[in-house]
Order: sequence, then C-alpha cells, then structure tokens
Amino acid sequence: MKTLAIVLAAGEGTRMKSATPKVLHKVAGLSMVGHVLAAVKLSVASSAAIVIGPNREDVGAEAARMFPGISTHVQTDRLGTAHAVLHAKANLAEGHDVVIVLFADTPLVRLETITKLRDAVTAGAAVVGLGFRAADPTGYGRFVMKGDALIAIREHKDATPAEREINLCNAGLMALSGKHALAILEKIGNANAQKEFYLTDAVEVARAMGLTATVVEAPETEVMGVNDRVQLADAERVLQGRLRESAMRAGVTLIDPASTFFSHDTKIGKDVIVEPNVFFGLGVSIGDRSVIRASSHCEQSIIGEDCEIGPFARLRPGTRLAQKVKVGNFVEIKNTDVGLGAKVNHLSYVGDATIGASANIGAGVITCNYDGFLKYRTVVGENAFVGTNSSLVAPVTIGNGAFIGSGSVITDDVPVDALAVARGRQVNKADWAPAFREKMKAKKAAQKK
Ligand code: UD1
Ligand code: CA
Repeated sequence: MKTLAIVLAAGEGTRMKSATPKVLHKVAGLSMVGHVLAAVKLSVASSAAIVIGPNREDVGAEAARMFPGISTHVQTDRLGTAHAVLHAKANLAEGHDVVIVLFADTPLVRLETITKLRDAVTAGAAVVGLGFRAADPTGYGRFVMKGDALIAIREHKDATPAEREINLCNAGLMALSGKHALAILEKIGNANAQKEFYLTDAVEVARAMGLTATVVEAPETEVMGVNDRVQLADAERVLQGRLRESAMRAGVTLIDPASTFFSHDTKIGKDVIVEPNVFFGLGVSIGDRSVIRASSHCEQSIIGEDCEIGPFARLRPGTRLAQKVKVGNFVEIKNTDVGLGAKVNHLSYVGDATIGASANIGAGVITCNYDGFLKYRTVVGENAFVGTNSSLVAPVTIGNGAFIGSGSVITDDVPVDALAVARGRQVNKADWAPAFREKMKAKKAAQKK
C-alpha cells in the first residue's frame, strides 16, 4: 500500500515569541516536526511532503534529516489548510492509496492513531477526520455526525449556536483516499468567515461526490497543538509521562517518576534503578541492572551493565562505560572510555581519556586535557592506581599496574608497575614548634604596647 504523508508547517508561530521557528522547538530533545515525521516513518509511509513558510530552510533541513527524500514545498500566502495541502499537488498526483495530512505543531500523535486513520480509508471512507472530546471546545472545528457518518466539520467561527454545543472536535489531522484526494481538494472553496480554503470542507465536498466520511477518535492529550511555551511545557509533560510509563513497563524502577527526565531516544535496560532528580539528555543508553543515583545528569553516553552512577554525577558526551564501572559523587566524565570494573568515585574530572579495566582513580584526580588551544588524551592502564588529588597533564600514559602517589602532578609517562611521585618532598624539623611559639608571643605582646 502506498501512503503519502503531508505535514503542514507554514504557520507563523508568533505566540512562541522566538527567533527559532515554532516547529523546531523541542519536546524530549526532538523538534516537534521531528516527532511528527518519526511517527510518519514508523507508520511506513512510502513518501512524505512538508509545506513550510518562506525563509524556513531550517525547518526543511530538519524534515530532510528525519525523513530523507521528503519533498519540501513553500507556501508564500497562508490561505488555509486546504491551500497548504495543495502545495503538495505533485506528490498527490503520484497515485497513492492513502494520503495523511498532519500538523507539525501537533507533536504527540502516536503511530497507532496514524494507522487507525489509514485503516479507516482502506475500509472505504474517502475522508477520515481525527476527533477528540474537548474539555473546552472553543475555537476548534466541530464534527457534525449522523450515526457513524461524518456529515461536516464546522469551524468555530462558522458554527451555529447548536453546532457549538458539540464537543467532538477536529484535531485537524485527516486521512483521504489517494484516489479521490486531489479531486476533493481542488473543489474546496473559501466562502467562509475567514475567507480561507479549509481542509475541513473535504468532508462536505466528498459527500457531494457520493463518497463517505468518518471519524477516528484519540485522547485530547495526544492531539494537543502547541502554540506557545505554556503549551510546549504541557506537551513535554505528556511525553515525559509516556516515556516514564514505557520505561517502567519495560522493567525499569523509577523511584520518583515525576523527577526522572528522559529524551525521546533514551535506551534503558531491565532492572535499572533510577533515583530521584535524574536528567537524561540525548543519546543515552543504560545497560541492565545499572543504578543511576539521585541528581545525576547524563548525555550522549553509553553506560554498560551493572554500573553505579552518582549521586551527583555528570556524564558528558562521549562517555563510554564498560560493565561494573563506578562513577561517584561530583565526578564529571567526558569523551572517555572506562574499562570493566574501574572506579572513579569522588570529585574528579576525567576528560579525553581511556581508563583501563579495574583502574582506581582516587578522589580529586583531574585530567589536565586542555592547554588553552588543543585537547590531549590521557591513558590510564589496567589495574593502575592513581592517588588522590593528582593532576594528569595530558598527553600522558600511565602503564598497567602503576601507582601514582597522591598529590602528584604527572607530566611524564609512567612505566608499567612503577610508582610515580611528583610533588615536593616532606621535611620534618624536630622540636621546631616551641621556639616558634615563643617568638610569636613576644611579637604579639610588643604590638599591644
Ligand atoms: C484547524 C482546523 C480546525 C481544528 C484545529 C485543531 C481547518 C480549517 N481547521 O484550525 O477544525 O479544530 O485545526 O487545532 O483545518 N497551516 C499552513 N498553511 C495555512 C494554514 C495553516 O501550513 O495556510 C498549518 C499551520 O501551520 C498548522 C496547521 O496548518 O500547523 C493548522 O492551522 P491553524 O491555522 O492552526 O488551524 P486552526 O485554525 O487552528
Ligand atoms: Ca491551530
């Protein structure tokens, strides 16, 4: 079956009060238009088109990133949703079985719903509207029904008082029979309150052609449109709720789900435990049985199985932890591979490094990876022991099994199994204190006079 998805994204989005186009604002780390196209892709649409406003190349680029090969059309005059859809006329003419129209600012629509819309067309309807029961229907188009048949969609501004009582509202998304879509769309006029070409008129046009229209329903939270930052936060909350629920259903313990934040792409294994106040940015995967302790922040990081992270740990991009790694409190790791069973337990910065299996990085150890111009790598061998409060000045390599005395500033490579101590030697002066005390007391007495 050939399915064409047409995504409308030519709205101005002025209520976002943003220099960024509305549909590029992110929900769980992915742009709104990205969410819509991800669902479209999963629904195995064979092709897709997007209608953007003038000077919105950035929206076109994001669409192409999410759906390679998507056709981009620019709508210069915003004359309504049907007018927008007709910009994809060349795609419509390709001969698809089903055409699905989506809005780029309605990011939470699920694959199941897109599939239902398509199935209703396959079952014989020429037009399928997506409806929801609105808590407050003001402003939405209303579905005028006769049994299961959709008779008309009346825009709020054009509705009679009786029609305004209807609470089955139009979410805006629509599926059309590919065979009839173009003929229907081309018959739509603009004789209405807003002088716009309404996509919603497809219902009455189809019926006048002797075709049928019907409705698929979805929960209001799924079809919410995002027009401002308050609604953006609402959408984030709904999506976080979904991500938390699916993690828990897949075998993850979230001690306080409401304070665990996922990205759309977080991958998390079975029997992982996440303590409160944890944020997962993009590109995180966590192996089975790992524990993420309270108040940790992770992004672009791979965490192996049976690891223990935090509390208060920060894993920055390029962190790759093997199995059974421990990263403790106030530790920051970036662009670093940490081997099996290695420990970085307290107050360290480890960047641009390779830490061998079973190595122990003591409290307060810092890799000095940057000289103000370039970055350099630190290599710590397997089983090496780096004493507390040492600085490893990269590029530097510490051999397998080597020991570093605490407080060392290591600037040269350390051979396998060696002990390196790089700090001032301790000097003890016997019986030094009494004379010092006498001298200072006298000085203080002289000052008081
Ligand atoms: C539309 C529906 C309404 C529904 C509501 C749900 C129509 C006529 N009305 O109304 O029944 O209840 O959505 O939110 O379809 N767009 C373009 N070019 C245009 C006009 C719109 O690309 O010329 C895009 C917008 O960017 C947006 C979408 O189409 O993504 C919907 O447009 P909008 O103006 O928000 O439609 P509503 O008036 O809210
Ligand atoms: Ca709208």
